[in-house]
Amino acid sequence: MKVNHAEIVISAVSKKQYPEDRLPEIALAGRSNVGKSSFINKLINRKNLARTSSKPGKTQTLNFYRLNDAFYFVDVPGYGYAKVSKKEREKWGGMMEEYFQTRDTLRAVVLITDSRHEPTRDDIQMYDFLKYFELPVIVIATKIDKVPKSKRHAHLKRTRETLEMESQDELVAFSSETGDGKDEAWGLLRSYL
Ligand code: GTP
Ligand code: MG
Repeated sequence: MKVNHAEIVISAVSKKQYPEDRLPEIALAGRSNVGKSSFINKLINRKNLARTSSKPGKTQTLNFYRLNDAFYFVDVPGYGYAKVSKKEREKWGGMMEEYFQTRDTLRAVVLITDSRHEPTRDDIQMYDFLKYFELPVIVIATKIDKVPKSKRHAHLKRTRETLEMESQDELVAFSSETGDGKDEAWGLLRSYL
């Protein structure tokens, strides 16, 4: 997919701020610092449209990126960062639940995991949460550039097994550094748009 036009439409914290043009949406989900914003940038060939950081907790709001005036990517704050207060965690939960529960233009969710590591308890919870809302999930195992080629197959298998992924949900090895998996990811996303 060639994205010629990309713009941030709104950074929302609640439903009344979501865009109302009814274009289809793909949302991101994943641990803090796992590479959600980098994934968006790589897919649309922009260095820093979705702001990234080496420090966790960069993305704090639901950021709606309208692409080609045809659909949205929604970047969301990550979970699982130890240094957040209980109050902040509750705020995060409320914001995410409101979005995933009520957003009827949401077509699929891209769950980003770190291909180097076994999915965490939070990752499993997130996957189950999305399945509870009957959302199609595409799991992107990112940072695959950091996994030696000989170990990639085993790491992907572990990701699928630990998440207990449903057979129809797809898993893609990806790297925002090298662009590995980009065409495959677009191929899957396109089928939901
Ligand atoms: P929050 O907004 O804090 O939840 O983080 P995020 O999930 O949006 O992560 P972000 O895209 O900001 O990336 C976090 C860090 O991981 C940055 O330093 C990126 O450069 C790095 N990174 C992301 N993807 C990759 C990848 O595929 N390979 C490598 N080697 N580094 C990556
Ligand atoms: Mg981010």
